[in-house]
Amino acid sequence: MSGTCDMRCVLVSKSLDLRGYLGPEFVHAADRIEIVSHPHDGPAMDVRLAVAWHPPDDAFEHYPNLQAVCSIGAGVDNILACPSLRPDVDVIRVVDPAQAQMMSGFVAWHVIGHQRRFATYQAQQREQRWKRLGLDVRRAQDVPVGILGFGEIGRRVATDLASLGFPVMAWSRTAKPAPHGIRAFDGAAGLDAMLGQTEILVNLLPLTPETRGILNRRTFGRMYRGGYLIQVGRGEHLVEADLLAALENGQLSGAALDVFSTEPLAPRHPFWCHPRILVTPHEACEVSVAAIGTTFRATVEAIRAGQRPPLTIDRTRGY
Ligand code: NAP
Ligand code: GLV
Repeated sequence: MSGTCDMRCVLVSKSLDLRGYLGPEFVHAADRIEIVSHPHDGPAMDVRLAVAWHPPDDAFEHYPNLQAVCSIGAGVDNILACPSLRPDVDVIRVVDPAQAQMMSGFVAWHVIGHQRRFATYQAQQREQRWKRLGLDVRRAQDVPVGILGFGEIGRRVATDLASLGFPVMAWSRTAKPAPHGIRAFDGAAGLDAMLGQTEILVNLLPLTPETRGILNRRTFGRMYRGGYLIQVGRGEHLVEADLLAALENGQLSGAALDVFSTEPLAPRHPFWCHPRILVTPHEACEVSVAAIGTTFRATVEAIRAGQRPPLTIDRTRGY
C-alpha cells in the first residue's frame, strides 16, 4: 500500500466491470484509500473494505481482514448470497432519493398504462383504427394499488401514486404510520387484507427467505380478478409458472416485469413473446455513482472512527 493510504478497498463483481462503472472520479475521490480489483495480487491482509455486485462464490475467502462490503444498489441479496461472506462482515446498502424518484416514475407509467388501457390503443393503432374507449376509461380513484414493501423506495412510490389520485395501500413487515392518503398493512393478516382490495400489485420487497416466491398463485388469487402485476423487486420473488397460469385463466390481465431469476432473460423464455407481459431489462431505476460515493465515504469514515457504518443492513433480517 502506498505511504499516504491507510486502507485498501477491493472491487468485486462477476457481472460488471466495477472500475469502469464507477469511473475515475470515484477512484480518485477515495481519500487515502487504495482501490484494487479482484482478483488482487498484492497483500490481501490490508483489504478491509469491498465494493461488490454479484461477487463470485469464493471472492471473500481471499480477504481475512475484510470489515465491510458496500453494495452499489439498494438491494444486497446478491452479496448476502455469497458463500464466502463471513457472518461478522458488515454489509452496506445505498439510499438514493433520486433512485426512488426514478422508480416512482417507472411504476406510475405502468399503473397509468393499465388504468388508461395503453395496450388497447397500441393494438388499435396497429390496425389504424380510431376508436374512443368512452365509458371504458376509468378514473384513478377506481383503480386500487397495493404495494409490497413500504421502505425507502416503496414509500416514495406510494406517496406519488396517492398524489395522482389512486387509492394506495402498502404492506411492510412491521407496523408503520402511513402518510395521508395511504393505508398501511403489516404481517400475514395484513397481506391478505390488502390483497383483497388490490387491483394493481407492485412488488418492492427485498429478497429474503421470507419473501422468496411471494408472487404466487395464492397471492394472485386473492387480488381482484383481472388484476395487474408490476414486478420490480427481484426475480426470485416470482413463481413464474403461477404467473403464466394466472394470465391464462384471467385472474391477472397483464404484468410488467423488470427483474428475473436469471438475468439476462433466456432467449427462449416464454415471457419474451407473451402478449400480456411487458419485459424491461432490470432498468426500472439506477443508483447514481454520486450516491454510491457518498455511502462509500461515510462507510470509510465510520471504519476509521471504529464505528458501525451508517446504512449497514441487519443481516438477521436480510435487508
Ligand atoms: P427497504 O428500504 O429495505 O424497504 C424494504 C421494505 O420491505 C420495508 O418496508 C420492509 O418492512 C418490507 N419487508 C421486508 N421483508 C418483509 C416481509 N417479510 N414482509 C413484509 N414486508 C417486508 O428497501 P428499498 O430501498 O425500498 O428497496 C426494496 C427493493 O426494491 C430492493 O431490495 C430491491 O430488491 C428492489 N429494487 C429494484 C430495483 C430495480 O431496478 N428493479 C431498483 C432498486 C431496488 P419494514 O418497513 O417493516 O422493515
Ligand atoms: C437495483 O436493483 C438495486 O438494488 O438498486
